[in-house]
Parts: sequence; C-alpha cells; structure tokens
Amino acid sequence: MCTTYSEKNSKKRKTVIAHRGASGYLPEHTIEAKIMAHGINVDFIEQDLVLSKDDVPIVIHDIYLDDVTDVATKFKGRNREDGRYYVIDFTLRELKKLKVSERFNPKTKKQVYPNRFPKNTGNFRLSTLEEEIEIIKALNKTMDKNIGIYPEIKAPKFHKNEGKDISKIILKTLEKHGYNSKNDNCILQCFDSEELERIRKELNSNLFLVQLMESEGEVKKLSHFASYANGIGPWYKQIVRKKNGKYVFSELVKKAHELNLVVHPYTLRADNLGGFNSFEELLGVLLFDANVDGAFTDFPDKMVKFLDANN
Ligand code: G3P
Ligand code: CA
Repeated sequence: MCTTYSEKNSKKRKTVIAHRGASGYLPEHTIEAKIMAHGINVDFIEQDLVLSKDDVPIVIHDIYLDDVTDVATKFKGRNREDGRYYVIDFTLRELKKLKVSERFNPKTKKQVYPNRFPKNTGNFRLSTLEEEIEIIKALNKTMDKNIGIYPEIKAPKFHKNEGKDISKIILKTLEKHGYNSKNDNCILQCFDSEELERIRKELNSNLFLVQLMESEGEVKKLSHFASYANGIGPWYKQIVRKKNGKYVFSELVKKAHELNLVVHPYTLRADNLGGFNSFEELLGVLLFDANVDGAFTDFPDKMVKFLDANN
C-alpha cells in the first residue's frame, strides 16, 4: 500500500533536499542558508537537531560547537575533558551569543571546504527548530509554496546519557507546529534504528520516517526497517561506486522499492565528487540509472537545474 509521501512522490520530479540548507553557498544550518534554499525551490529543507542545556532543540549538525562557532574564544574553559565544547552544556541564551562560521577543523583551524563561504565572515547565529519552522512557514506563505522540513534527531543515546529524551522533545515541538502525520510535509530521520523504531512504536508518531544508513551490512536489515519506516537514507556509495571507470550498482534501491521504501541518499556535493567526473554525471547515475527517489545535496540549485533539463 502506498504512503502519502510516495503517492505524491510518484507524480512529481525527484525530491530535492537542501542538505543543511544551501550549505554549498552559505554556512551550514544558518537561517540565511535556509532562506537561500527556499528561494531555490527545493522540496525539503533539512534540520539536524541537538538539545541545549535548557532542552531547546537547536539546529546544528554535531553535538559539538567548536567546529562551526567561536565558542572556544567566547566561552574559553567551558570545554569538557576531551577538549570539545558541547551544545548540551550551554543554555539557549548563551548559544545565541555565538557567531556561526563556515565549518572548520577546530585543531588546525582550516576550513573544511576551502572554496566555500569564507570562514569567520558575516554575523550568522544558531537557530532553534521553532525559529526555523516559523521562517519556512512564513516564506511558504509569502512565496505561495509548500516546502517541507526534514528534521534529523542526532545522537539519541548521548542525549539519554545526559538525562534527556530528545525524540519526545522534538516530536512535541513538531506537533505544536502542526507536523503530526504523513500529510504534513515533514520527514523525520535518524541514524539510530532502535530510536526510530521507538518513535513509531512507543511514541506512536504518524510522521513519514526515514531510516538513515551508513554501512554495507545494513542491507540485510531492510525488511526490519520497513516494519516502522517509510524510507531509507543511505550513503550514496551504498548504491553506486565507480570502479576502474565503470559503475557498480548494489541491489539496495531495488530491494528498498520492493518493500515500498523511498530512497533518499546523502550527500551530493559539487566540490567532492567521490570519483565521478562531474556533478552532472553523479546526478544522472544516481537519480536515473540507480532510480533513487530524491537526494540530499549541498548544491540544490544544481540539482533543480539538472532535473529541469532532464525531466
Ligand atoms: O541526514 C542525511 C545526511 O545529512 C546524513 O548525514 O552527517 O550530514 O547528517 P549528516
Ligand atoms: Ca543530516
């Protein structure tokens, strides 16, 4: 039986998911990167989520602050024994004092993607999930669009060890803003399969759920994933690799589709081609030859342009 998302998906172009916003052009997860993605006309905008000390869902990729903010200078000494600064050790009020930068290595201070937005430039801030939802909904209204959100629950076990139930808090926030079911233009994702299963079976969420994957061995778990999830989000190299100039496809997409799971691989980057000759080659092989349903990309404008030209 078809789910709402796949019914919709079957009638439209492949799904374009702005990975951390239009993060190829502006610092990841800033409101500015999300607004740019909205203007590009993507289908979904992604939010990675971590809790603050006072239990507020913050849009940030890692449980750490020191590779995308100036925390090490503004709050010197507030690091843990491992040297890292943790989001969960700071209140929202404190987090709002930080400036967000293009991603860098906290040890070498080198920018991870040197050709992207210059490090430590601008006056970008961290956002809460609620702030981001409000902006996306407001833009949907003014632009007459219906762009969805694609939140990811990060590190549920880490949060549990810190005494926090991140999934419950995020589900409550989503519910408050009208995201309850598969009709509500929200896809919830998580790498932790026990947690995603709990979200469906114990927390009784009716949202469209995507199980993220990262290793080859997980293919044999597909039918289990299908017992609670509506889709999978594999690393794209679990689907296709280029070896000695030839494409080698796995069975992952075929098997997932047989189980009625949509397939949204991550992360397509025009400045990190993973052995492919061009971004267009990567897009063509993955979207059309491998027949995935959509993809996460740091360069959503290029994916939209490619789909417009090839649909
Ligand atoms: O959530 C899809 C993709 O974003 C997974 O990788 O590490 O960028 O969250 P990551
Ligand atoms: Ca993510």
